[in-house]
Amino acid sequence: MPVSFTASRGGAAVRCGDVKIRVIGGGPGGLYFALLLRKSTAEHEIEVFERNRPDDTFGWGVVFSDETLGNFLHADPATHERITDGFVHWDRIDTHVKGEVIRSGGHGFSGIARRRLLQILQERCRELGVALHFERELSPEEALAGADLIVAADGVNSRIRTAMADQFRPDIAIGKAKFIWLGADRAFDAFKFFIRTDDAGMFQVHAYPFDAEHSTFIVETDEATWRRAGLDRMPVADGVAYCEKLFAPELDGARLLVNKSEWIGFRRVKNATWHADNVVLIGDAAHTAHFSIGSGTKLAMEDSIALAEAVRDHRDVTSALRAYQEARWLDVAKLQRTAETSQAWFENISRYRDLAPTQFAMSLMSRSKRVTHANLRMRDPAFVDRVDRWYAASQGHGGSAPTPPPMFVPLTLRELVLENRVVVSPMCQYSAQDGQPDDWHLVHLGSRAVGGAGLVMAEMTDVSRDGRISPGCAGIYRDDHVAGWRRVTEFVHRNSKAKIGLQLGHAGRKGSTKLMWEGIDQPLPAGNWPILSASAIPYYGHSQVPRAMTRADMDDVRADYVRATERAIEAGFDLLEVHMAHGYLLASFLSPLTNRRTDDYGGSIENRMRYPLEVFAAVRAAWPAERPISVRISATDWMPGGIEDADVLAIARALKAAGCDVVDVSTGQTVPEAQPVYGRMFQTPWSDLVRHEVGIRTITVGNVQDWDQVNTILASGRADLVALARPHLFDPYFTLHAAAEQGWGGVHWPVQYLPAKPR
Ligand SMILES: Cc1cc2nc3c(=O)[nH]c(=O)nc-3n(C[C@H](O)[C@H](O)[C@H](O)COP(=O)(O)OP(=O)(O)OC[C@H]3O[C@@H](n4cnc5c(N)ncnc54)[C@H](O)[C@@H]3O)c2cc1C
Ligand SMILES: Cc1cc2nc3c(=O)[nH]c(=O)nc-3n(C[C@H](O)[C@H](O)[C@H](O)COP(=O)(O)O)c2cc1C
Repeated sequence: MPVSFTASRGGAAVRCGDVKIRVIGGGPGGLYFALLLRKSTAEHEIEVFERNRPDDTFGWGVVFSDETLGNFLHADPATHERITDGFVHWDRIDTHVKGEVIRSGGHGFSGIARRRLLQILQERCRELGVALHFERELSPEEALAGADLIVAADGVNSRIRTAMADQFRPDIAIGKAKFIWLGADRAFDAFKFFIRTDDAGMFQVHAYPFDAEHSTFIVETDEATWRRAGLDRMPVADGVAYCEKLFAPELDGARLLVNKSEWIGFRRVKNATWHADNVVLIGDAAHTAHFSIGSGTKLAMEDSIALAEAVRDHRDVTSALRAYQEARWLDVAKLQRTAETSQAWFENISRYRDLAPTQFAMSLMSRSKRVTHANLRMRDPAFVDRVDRWYAASQGHGGSAPTPPPMFVPLTLRELVLENRVVVSPMCQYSAQDGQPDDWHLVHLGSRAVGGAGLVMAEMTDVSRDGRISPGCAGIYRDDHVAGWRRVTEFVHRNSKAKIGLQLGHAGRKGSTKLMWEGIDQPLPAGNWPILSASAIPYYGHSQVPRAMTRADMDDVRADYVRATERAIEAGFDLLEVHMAHGYLLASFLSPLTNRRTDDYGGSIENRMRYPLEVFAAVRAAWPAERPISVRISATDWMPGGIEDADVLAIARALKAAGCDVVDVSTGQTVPEAQPVYGRMFQTPWSDLVRHEVGIRTITVGNVQDWDQVNTILASGRADLVALARPHLFDPYFTLHAAAEQGWGGVHWPVQYLPAKPR
């Protein structure tokens, strides 16, 4: 039984039956809301105003997933039936690149012409008695006067949103790429990604069928390519001819069609709120999601379902609109985030120009993080088998049967062979006495080596006593530390196939602080030691003030690094990592937020990296040529004014030239006021950036939660090694578990534990 809906007009309560609802915009969002509300209650007066004629419609087809269709069935079976009657189905996504077609099946999508969808929604509105007014463009003033509820379904350029911008507080970002929404007079037999490069640059097409004779054909390219091609200066018709010529092999005689088509940048719309007074935004007026995930119409129609339910179930406008927003906010935010990740992949597509077609397709398929190696295996095992075979072969391990999952493909770095690509990320234990590792370190690192990881990194280990973060930090600054570490490396080498690395560090301005569990980064109340940094800026206002390093300090610290390196050789480590991340001493030179120097070590990125590179060169010279070195960097400070992508690339290029084998790409911890955006695999985009733009191996780290994500990252070429920190704290046997769960027998089990090995 619907709850009666009351509203207040001019301060007076409006009786049920008198409520006037005005919908601005007869797109999918506006029409669907009107028909659903009319269906659930005949009490309100609902009118839709649309500026176009009933048959006018821009664009071509829309896509829906099977899940979205389930929502439509529930909301109104009659609409669902008509929509599904008009459908073209496909379950394959084909990537056409460099003369190859990589096919991936099992995706389950349906397409319908936008024109047909609107006809169905209009018909259904008429049947249910919704008043539709076409060719009626309402100004915001007209739209907002004299109705109890105003539904702004007026699309991406919503004038109502603009007129009430101070209340909705829209946030609109224009994408870096240019695209044009075209049609093709051919129904492709799958969803198609066509990738072509000409003298101007790289172009991509997103194409899918929407009826028996036609497909949507969206051409997209980066702005520089678009300008080089002259598309900015050509009439649209000439630009379309350009695309027809470029994609002639894929079109195979089909023609491209226009319908109010023009080259534009994608408008990503968000609003601080979707309702104000008695006005509510739905669909594109409220939020947009990049077309590469094909969800705009779905989002608009799901908004309509939620708003119609809220109006039906609440007694007053304010609580109905609040309930609508609450019902939709999280889902929309998640989808927008997915869409932004997908959009960024396409905007940076030229980064992937050198990938082999198979890996290119894998990177494309997994771009938004929602589709993973394991999802794809469920959808289409043959596709994933092909990816895995390609991956193993590309790393020099082809031909072995069975093919290992990507995480179990060995990696050779100089003369060091890692059995698999799982890294136990360095984790301070705050359990050493004057730098000396003890039984805790032996058990902690030893058990993780026994657990099967390819590389176990010991924690940040300081090159000097004054370089420690806390009194509990491990060090390698006294000769007798060597024996303590040797005990650990010998255990690891004797009892596992893991290799063990040491991370050399100096805490810089974050030194002389409490143990993690007593107050991370908080200054010690007593017993402090002098601290150094690039500039004399304390971490917190109440932190100890570091001394800006003099040249003499630089010489001393560099010498400490070299002596520590010599001890690390004696201690038997296989790999060395130089810590240039997380705001510690060397990082403090790299970030403009912590380096305010005006000498040769501050200012430009060349100057800021001068000292860290000097230390690196000294360490590299002291470390055996056959053993690899990695460097951990913070690729963003998560703060305006901090390190930028261009700086990161300059650093990675310089490190590569200086003999660094792997860049371990972390982020943040530079300044306490940083605003990191956490999410699964949240730091991997920077690993992807460094790996492809610089052509150096990378380790990614940060919220990698399971082995499926590890395989996805590796197979798609986003990193060469995957480090996990916290997951290894609750599961030292992460790698053995991963092998068992994937049925992979090629992992080393300690003989003592063989009874547990799955057969
Ligand atoms: C290139 C491209 C490809 C896309 N591909 C897909 C896809 O494959 N699948 C998908 O689901 N979505 C896709 N979308 C998104 C999709 O088109 C929109 O997300 C969807 O149409 C949103 O529906 P809506 O009802 O909110 O807005 P719209 O469909 O934009 O409808 C708004 C309506 O309001 C009318 N209007 C505006 N102002 C006024 C006024 N003042 N008075 C009267 N009428 C007014 C307009 O004429 C229009 O008809 C794509 C978008 C683009 C740009
Ligand atoms: C207890 C703890 C100690 C850490 N110590 C270090 C360290 O010594 N050196 C370092 O570079 N990162 C250190 N980190 C960061 C981790 O190596 C890793 O980058 C971070 O935890 C993100 O990975 P995760 O999401 O898998 O935990 C530490 C993290 C934790 C949880």
